[in-house]
Amino acid sequence: PTPVICIDGPTASGKGTIAGLVAERLGFALLDSGALYRITGLAASRAGIALTEDNAPAIADLIRRSHIGFTPDQRVLLDGEDISLAIRTEDASMNASRVAAFPAVREALLQVQRDFRRLPGLVGDGRDMGTVIFPDAPLKVYLTATAECRAERRYKQLISKGLSANMADLLADLQARDARDMNRAAAPLKPAEDALHLDNSEGTIEQAVQQILTWWEQ
Ligand code: CDP
Repeated sequence: PTPVICIDGPTASGKGTIAGLVAERLGFALLDSGALYRITGLAASRAGIALTEDNAPAIADLIRRSHIGFTPDQRVLLDGEDISLAIRTEDASMNASRVAAFPAVREALLQVQRDFRRLPGLVGDGRDMGTVIFPDAPLKVYLTATAECRAERRYKQLISKGLSANMADLLADLQARDARDMNRAAAPLKPAEDALHLDNSEGTIEQAVQQILTWWEQ
């Protein structure tokens, strides 16, 4: 089967950047699964659907009917519109974590994610790549960092995109999202049993990338 490297972990652990670099070095495709939940939250809000469990089937339906696209440079398209920036605000992050708790939404996005698997390989970035989407993946990495490190990274990321940010709010937001991701019934965030753990609090992005490439070659 086509190889998959799963990189799972909590918010702002550096997963996105690291997954992108690993994919680039290996010439693999990239699945930013979080973007799919972000798109779903945005599409539902725009359609005026409240993000409640009762509305989960309608939200799942909406996403099945929507056309989601990723350009080669990782811009995100919803029915042809570039929504790359709109899905990165803190509001969009909160909405993504809300819809991600609904089993009907996760079910609607299951095959979409598996369809990203193609030769010569795929790097999947998310929460449940190793536990649910690609349980047969030969390499699963569980990437963590302390909440403070992650809040600081997220802060710099938002500022660099010209978006406004506040450290205290960011820390509170990411702790709320961690709690929701870990405590939800549907695909809770946890390391796969066969995942290798990588703490990225101290090291650089490049060190994490090298560690993953080394594991891959072994
Ligand atoms: O960038 P960040 O790590 O904060 O978020 P993301 O990876 O873009 O994911 C946004 C939200 O989608 C997360 O808070 C999760 O609740 C959810 N998610 C998920 O449930 N399963 C995934 N495989 C990926 C993301």
